[in-house]
Amino acid sequence: MDESTVTRRNLLKTAGIAGAAVGVGSLLPSTVLGSDGRWETLVPAASNPTMVGVPFERHEKVRLGIIGVGGRGTGVCSEFLAVPGVEVKAVCDVIPSKTANAASMVERRGQPRPTEYHNGDHDYENLCKRDDLDLIYIATPWIWHVRMALSSLENGHHTATEVPSARTLDECWALVNASEKAHKHCMMFENCCYGETELMVLRMVRAGLLGELTHGAGAYQHDLRGELFSNGGEGLWRRFEHLDRNGNLYPTHGLGPVANYLECNRGDRFDHMVSMSSQSVGLQAWREQHLKADDPRMKEVYHCGDQNTSLIKTAKGRVITVEHNVSEPHPYDRINLIAGTKGIFRDYPERLYIDGQKEGEQFVGLDKYKPEYLHPLWAENGDRARKNGGHGGMDYIMCYRVIQCMLQGIPPDFDVYDSASWSAPAPLSEISVAKGSAPVKFPDFTRGNWKTPRPFAGV
Ligand SMILES: NC(=O)c1ccc[n+]([C@@H]2O[C@H](COP(=O)([O-])OP(=O)(O)OC[C@H]3O[C@@H](n4cnc5c(N)ncnc54)[C@H](O)[C@@H]3O)[C@@H](O)[C@H]2O)c1
Repeated sequence: MDESTVTRRNLLKTAGIAGAAVGVGSLLPSTVLGSDGRWETLVPAASNPTMVGVPFERHEKVRLGIIGVGGRGTGVCSEFLAVPGVEVKAVCDVIPSKTANAASMVERRGQPRPTEYHNGDHDYENLCKRDDLDLIYIATPWIWHVRMALSSLENGHHTATEVPSARTLDECWALVNASEKAHKHCMMFENCCYGETELMVLRMVRAGLLGELTHGAGAYQHDLRGELFSNGGEGLWRRFEHLDRNGNLYPTHGLGPVANYLECNRGDRFDHMVSMSSQSVGLQAWREQHLKADDPRMKEVYHCGDQNTSLIKTAKGRVITVEHNVSEPHPYDRINLIAGTKGIFRDYPERLYIDGQKEGEQFVGLDKYKPEYLHPLWAENGDRARKNGGHGGMDYIMCYRVIQCMLQGIPPDFDVYDSASWSAPAPLSEISVAKGSAPVKFPDFTRGNWKTPRPFAGV
């Protein structure tokens, strides 16, 4: 398929979900009004053992298959090739030039040329049927993530998706059920959890520097207007998400690190949320300036509000703010705030205030804390990460850590319950917005196992 022939209708049709998985209307029937006045979703009965704390089997090396080698998949493929112990065995994309590009990159890095799968929208199923893969990583448009992950899990592979793993609550549950049934991990590669700052702050929080934690905030404030209207890459699919949906479409980059600080799914959990969206005007204003009057995209109607702000309350009573805005001018910002009874950290730029500090009541930089709190993953791999890695090196650190867990035979840092819980604010925000910002309950994807303490990246 040529890039120019990829249309929204094609994407939905070939994914087999046209009219089913898009639109708030399809989300509403799975919610019921609870006795406490909050909307909640139905929880399927457990039928298989939990995946909480399940270690990987120990691997001598990790044989990798990649589905989707566009911008992100190619970048992460390059990161994995820099990690000792990884063999890239198979790559898949609907565009043959992209699999050829990725396969050549693998060869240039000294490995045998991987098998290329580019025979249409469902050739990924043939990649998934291979019995010589240890991990399949999926970096395709969002509407494909879950069906590809299900195919991978059903064929017995550990699986990783790009962010967000899922777009609907039903999809979240489908991943949980499939991971448990296959007894294979289904991770969401939330790279922001592996930033140098995020891992350092995680250690500071665990050491008690901020006292008892009470609130956090995360965001995805990224001016994607040019990208959304481009004629390649994400411009071919991501803008379409703004047509039918209205909520926080991309919650995980801001939320993942904050969920870790607060030990969500490891002692606390997201309980319920409320959400509000502003009106939708940013993309319309941008296209007025940049598109010709007869461009077909001038007729598109975007329902997604430019600014979405959601509030999550946790079972322990903490409050998390999550924001999303990709449609207006804004310097890149994930907020990355965590606070408690002894102090507060916030990012962009990174700054800290500890009650009673000698500098007085003002924020100070993190430098003086680095010698004690820099995470060992960064202390040992920081130079290599910055040299190889995208997003300041966090992508390399994430890939390195996943492979480390598989080689050592220990549990992954994140599992299918994190994939589901961190993706769920997207559909839950859509429900809340559609119901006039009503509170909506989070499903407990762990089925009661959220109190089990477990480390993230050894912390
Ligand atoms: N974690 C991060 O920092 C980060 C950064 C960018 C993108 N992403 C995520 O990565 C994913 C991909 O984004 P991208 O920027 O690479 O987009 P992209 O459009 O550049 O790449 C997607 C690729 O998937 C391919 N594809 C589509 N349908 C397919 C199918 N049926 N079978 C095989 N291949 C198919 C496309 O041809 C394309 O090459 C998205 O989920 C996005 O949210 C994450």
